[in-house]
Amino acid sequence: MRVFIAALVLTLSAASPVWAQAAPRASYQDQWVRTEPTDPSEEWLIAFGGRMYSQWAEVLDQNLPVKGAPGGGGYGDAPKAKGPDIWKCATCHGWDYKGVGANKATNLRGLVGGDPARVVKALRNERHRYTPEMIPDDAAMRLGLFLTKGQYDVDKVIDPVTKKINGNPVRGKAAFQNLCASCHGYDGKAQNFAGTKAPEFIGTVARTNPWLLIHTARNGFPGEAMPANFWMGMDILGDIGSYAQTLPEK
Ligand code: HEC
Ligand code: HEC
Repeated sequence: MRVFIAALVLTLSAASPVWAQAAPRASYQDQWVRTEPTDPSEEWLIAFGGRMYSQWAEVLDQNLPVKGAPGGGGYGDAPKAKGPDIWKCATCHGWDYKGVGANKATNLRGLVGGDPARVVKALRNERHRYTPEMIPDDAAMRLGLFLTKGQYDVDKVIDPVTKKINGNPVRGKAAFQNLCASCHGYDGKAQNFAGTKAPEFIGTVARTNPWLLIHTARNGFPGEAMPANFWMGMDILGDIGSYAQTLPEK
């Protein structure tokens, strides 16, 4: 008991509050993060695909390839992402799914309502060169489900120029304080997603990359016990996003 109190006093008197760093995931949460339901709902598969879109290797318990790039880096205007990040879908296709840069062929919005198998095929083509060892067919199908059934029109929620998220921040506050705050804190600062020099909190991401915020809120965070809120619908996610844009950036 005395040891415990001493530790508590030490922690409380430390310069930064106890909750300023992300706590390690409890092992029971691996039940959710690293295993699968025996009877997955389609929504679960779609959100799995959404997390793969963020970082497929993490979701599949692998590492991103350290060398090379899809298509050998031979795209007309492939973004200049360095290192393994070049293998992430969003690097070329964007967090709004509309493609990065001037290459309109990277816009994936046309896939909505289409055949998910088309995505599997695209991943195997000479442009992408994702092998079945990297992304097995069943996992590739989940990416396909996400892109054909799980995408949404971001322009309905986010102003592409001002980056403002349309929503009702009063309703968003209620959802944020009761749900997101359990891991991110009431001010969104309980976890820092970047370094200590240039910290990134919920309020930072909400303003700098609202598309990433909405994508993550819907699909969860790869390899972490953050729930996918796909089932909520875009209205409430927009509300949460608009409230998140009022939270502190630093
Ligand atoms: C290095 C850039 C790059 C990365 C990374 C990348 N793509 Fe692509 N992708 C492209 C380009 C460029 C095209 C345009 C079509 C072409 O040139 O073949 C494309 C086309 C596609 C298409 C075909 C669209 C259609 O209309 O049929 C799909 C599907 C696709 N990508 C999915 C993905 C997914 C899923 C990932 C992540 C696992 C991914 N891409 C990663 C560059 C990339
Ligand atoms: C059960 C815990 C938990 C809940 C609830 C939760 N998150 Fe997270 N969230 C996490 C973890 C863990 C991370 C990853 C942090 C890291 O790796 O730095 C994360 C990361 C994020 C990121 C960072 C994305 C990026 O790539 O920078 C955003 C944005 C986010 N969460 C938004 C939300 C929103 C909005 C809600 C409520 C709808 C929410 N989270 C609810 C645990 C949670």
